[in-house]
Amino acid sequence: MCGIVGIVGKENAEKIIINGLERLEYRGYDSAGLFVSDKQNHHLIKAQGRIKNLEEKMTDDVNGTIGIGHTRWATHGKPSEENAHPHTSQNGRLVLVHNGVIENFEEIRQMYLTDDTFYGETDTEIAVHLVAALMENEQLSTKEAFQKALTIIQGSYAFALVDKEDGETIYVAKNKSPLLIGLGDGFNVICSDALAMLDQTSHFVEIVDGEMVTVTAEGIQIEDEKGNNVYRESYEAQLDLTDIEKGTYPYYMLKEIDEQPAVMRRLVQEYQAENGAIKLDQELVDEVITSDRIYIVACGTSYNAGLAAKQLIEKTTEIPVEVHLSSEFGYNMPLLSQKPFFIFLTQSGETADSRQVLVQINRLNHPSLTITNVAGSTLSREAKYTLLLHAGPEIAVASTKAYTAQIAVLALFAKGIGEVKQIAAAKDFDVFHELALVASAMETMISEKAVISQLTEDYLTGTRNAFYIGRGNDYYVSCEASLKLKEISYIQAEGFAAGELKHGTIALIEDGTPVIGVITEAHTGAHTRGNLKEVESRGAKTVVIVSEELARPTDQLVLPNVHPLLTSLVSVIPTQLIAYFATLQRGYDVDKPRNLAKSVTVE
Ligand code: F6R
Repeated sequence: MCGIVGIVGKENAEKIIINGLERLEYRGYDSAGLFVSDKQNHHLIKAQGRIKNLEEKMTDDVNGTIGIGHTRWATHGKPSEENAHPHTSQNGRLVLVHNGVIENFEEIRQMYLTDDTFYGETDTEIAVHLVAALMENEQLSTKEAFQKALTIIQGSYAFALVDKEDGETIYVAKNKSPLLIGLGDGFNVICSDALAMLDQTSHFVEIVDGEMVTVTAEGIQIEDEKGNNVYRESYEAQLDLTDIEKGTYPYYMLKEIDEQPAVMRRLVQEYQAENGAIKLDQELVDEVITSDRIYIVACGTSYNAGLAAKQLIEKTTEIPVEVHLSSEFGYNMPLLSQKPFFIFLTQSGETADSRQVLVQINRLNHPSLTITNVAGSTLSREAKYTLLLHAGPEIAVASTKAYTAQIAVLALFAKGIGEVKQIAAAKDFDVFHELALVASAMETMISEKAVISQLTEDYLTGTRNAFYIGRGNDYYVSCEASLKLKEISYIQAEGFAAGELKHGTIALIEDGTPVIGVITEAHTGAHTRGNLKEVESRGAKTVVIVSEELARPTDQLVLPNVHPLLTSLVSVIPTQLIAYFATLQRGYDVDKPRNLAKSVTVE
């Protein structure tokens, strides 16, 4: 959460910063700000709300060759113009932006600052006042004071600091929060995510936690915690600007829903070796087949993807699988098996809740695999192995294509492991062929947009709440379907195990309550239909999303048949579209739901 950009050494820095912030808006959008300077004139502009509010405040005289910008997702301090970054030191000389949480800000305030240096409510302000206090009290240079402040500050951070009196340098540092340096010709940039600065450069340098980097137009100097110079090669970002543009789509979410068949086909290509086998690192396979239990650790939609893949992994590998919420697992770790293997599912690869578990798992010396959409992300770097989702950048806050890509990668992984273990169910599971069939089935459902839009209008207009129900994998899809619906349309939606309704939840059913049943399993379908009848007789309006082979003439949404282990990949599509249309029909911003941010880098 929170996005940082900066540039030094190029005309029109203000425009480049605004563009960059727009591309980072998915990281938080409750306020934004920028500082820009041409050495003589300094401009600090902040606005509450979206980047467009900031843009509206830009006047013609705001321009410069150095600048830093920030888009915020509030942690400490309410979303307001005052609490927006950049923050300045009391003497006005230092300007700083921050992404993360400073945990010891109260101690710093007491030890290093007088009360009147601290005006607002944010933890970030502490950092800029601390650097200024160290400069003044200890006669340190800006760089020395920043370096010393980093030894005092505890917590997560990505910082960018500019000293107006210098006006040619951006000092940056990171710990746990993401930050990259981009290399230009005669200029250099900084950004939380490469896609923010892709129109300026495709060459980036990673910063390691604890390092400090001095960025000028001419070059960059990386220093480790002890002040030793570090040399690191740049890498070329494998991203294309067209991947991050909406094109003719009204919203990224719709584009990303539509991309899912292509993602399935790309995964088949990426994971198929020339001999037709699954491409998996041999060492990874060896560690998994000798493990006695797989622990999947994830949050939100990624957690739901883990649940949806549990059965398929167990059936094809015969290794028991537990799926856990990162935020719970880290602080209440269950008794682990003798030889656990950990899988971290994370679209962004930056989720702080998941990362804190990985840090503990590494300390315990257990093997780990991160399955992520972002190569080089923190969880990818820190886990022993990585498998990529190849879904292309996911920009809408509500995750869609990453969910299906996660299940598909887990299917490929499970097939690879099961094959080596010679499990019959794995041998019979032609995963490449089955994923190709899934891609076509997804296309069929995606082409039903008009029907799904009408159905959403008929069943969800004006409702306060809605329920999805199902059993087994259909229950797990119901959990994801309801998360999607509530997070963007604000309809209070829940996913329930269909059989559990009568044990309490059925009390919530009123006249007209929408209940959507998901039915793709032959052995539980009849029971779920029975549960739908129970709610119908209490006034619920029911919708059935059902596989073709189990469909009845009155069922509203019929899914093409696919392999029984992969049904979630298809049944989730209409639920994503229902969430999308419900949100549109209510007039909310589909891509940027309130209170949320895409990459959740605080615990
Ligand atoms: C919901 C959504 C979130 C994320 C969760 C984990 O649509 O996107 O629930 O799934 O914040 O994020 P990652 O997968 O990046 O770890």
